[in-house]
Order: sequence, then C-alpha cells, then structure tokens
Amino acid sequence: MGKVYVFDHPLIQHKVALMRMKDTSVKDFRELAKEVAMLMGFEATRNLPLKEVEIETPICRTRVRMLKGEDIAIVPILRAGLGFVDGMLALVPNAKVGHVGLYRDPETHEPVEYYCKLPKDIEKRQIFVVDPMLATGGSAVAAIDFIKKRGGRNITFMCLIAAPQGIETLQKAHPDIDIYIASKDETLDENAYIVPGLGDAGDRLYGTK
Ligand code: URA
Repeated sequence: MGKVYVFDHPLIQHKVALMRMKDTSVKDFRELAKEVAMLMGFEATRNLPLKEVEIETPICRTRVRMLKGEDIAIVPILRAGLGFVDGMLALVPNAKVGHVGLYRDPETHEPVEYYCKLPKDIEKRQIFVVDPMLATGGSAVAAIDFIKKRGGRNITFMCLIAAPQGIETLQKAHPDIDIYIASKDETLDENAYIVPGLGDAGDRLYGTK
C-alpha cells in the first residue's frame, strides 16, 4: 500500500490558511499555490534517483551526486492542477509536463477524458500527478487510470487539500501510489465541495467565479 503524507510544516500550514481565506486575491492565491507546490515538492522529490558525476572544484577533482534529471514528468489534472506546475518546475526545471483533462458525464457521472497528452516515454518517468483538491477522488482515480493505460507506472499524487473520502477512494483504486497532502479536511458537502476547503480551486486560480 502506498503511503499518505500530510504536511505539518508551519510554512505550508500558514500558506494554506491564507489560500482558504475568501478575500485572498487571485494574484495572491496563484503565488501561494506556487509556493506551496515548491515546499511540498521539496519533500515529494526526496527519492528521486541520483547519478554520480566527476567534477572539478577550484581545489581538486571529486565525485558528486546529481539528479539524473531527465526522468520526471509533472501531470496536472486540468484545469486547477496547472496551479502546481510552476512551483514543481522551479524545483525540477528539466521535467516534462503532460496534461490530463476530464469532465463528468452529466448522465452517468463517470469522468470522461477530453484531453490527454503525455511525454512519449512516460513509462520510464517518475510521474507527479498534481491537482489541488482531492474531493471524491473520482478525477484523480480516472486520471491515474488513463496514465497507467498509456504505460505510466511510477506515480505520486500531490494535492493541497483532501477529504477523507477522496483519500480512501484513491488508495483503494491505486494502492501502489504515494499521496502527498498539505491539509486533510473534515468532509464533503452535498455538492462535493471540501469542507472547510477553499472553494473552487480553478475559479480561485483564474478569477472565473
Ligand atoms: N474541487 C474544488 O475546486 N474544490 C472543492 O472543494 C472540491 C473539488
């Protein structure tokens, strides 16, 4: 079973608290999303593979360990997941970025993929699927299904706020993945919004309410 990491770092808690406030501006919300993604990404990338290289310091030749570098893919779930991409790319600038777009069929309520473009060597990459809100878990499960169907194997999921229902659903469907969460909230309301949450993350990132 994959692990669930909930961050208790004071900087992350402080920034998420600012993002929750209803009067936080779109500009501030976007900047905070980038900062939280960087802070979370720092820990979520802890197991990235390294390679030994020989370099020359001003003093002597020596062997050092550096990131292999070309092995990472960041995959935001459209559209709110885009808010995490810049923060992750600040940490791993050579990562490739894929995109998965889903909508919920109004009759069947099943997630339907309308867009999926992934790096073509996705099967070789450490994949970070990012979406700020893990509510019912439906979109995350479907996005990871699509990525696995295209060969993706080594997957980590990162979100800002998760409801217990979403965590359980995602763990059941994809027991192999680790889940990184900045804050675990209480529940969902009747419209599947996370409570207390922060509202609609996409609207708050792009000012489209
Ligand atoms: N998506 C959001 O943007 N917010 C929620 O609370 C739940 C899903």
